[in-house]
Amino acid sequence: MDRYAHPRPHNGIKAGKNEAYFREYAEALKQVVDTPVILVGGHRSIEAMNKLINETGIEYLSMSRPLIREPHLIKRWIEGDTRPALCVSCNSCYRTPGHACVFKLRGM
Ligand SMILES: Cc1cc2nc3c(=O)[nH]c(=O)nc-3n(C[C@H](O)[C@H](O)[C@H](O)COP(=O)(O)O)c2cc1C
Ligand code: SF4
Repeated sequence: MDRYAHPRPHNGIKAGKNEAYFREYAEALKQVVDTPVILVGGHRSIEAMNKLINETGIEYLSMSRPLIREPHLIKRWIEGDTRPALCVSCNSCYRTPGHACVFKLRGM
């Protein structure tokens, strides 16, 4: 099977604009299961993530591309630099060896 066969995640995500694009599905799921729910997809800012956790019963949030772009993103946030993730959601990391971020490969 083509290792890239599964659908690409959403692109064009902007912090504070269109984050957490699967939120409505996770909230619906939360209504019918007794287990903790983890939501992935489009988390880019600590503000939006905190708001989501505080407003919903969703227990955990997961991130993929922001951590490919910035492996130390969570440490950065904990240390007080709470600017949004640098990942621009271009999905170019699907085409690089080891799924590396193209910006990191260019030393950016
Ligand atoms: C390079 C790359 C490879 C991925 N491979 C898989 C995969 O094999 N299976 C899968 O279910 N999701 C895969 N994903 C999707 C992520 O797990 C995640 O659901 C998606 O990127 C959305 O989250 P994000 O906005 O935090 O990146 C991949 C994502 C990236 C960027
Ligand atoms: S190539 Fe880099 S900026 Fe583009 S989606 Fe992947 S991690 Fe994000």
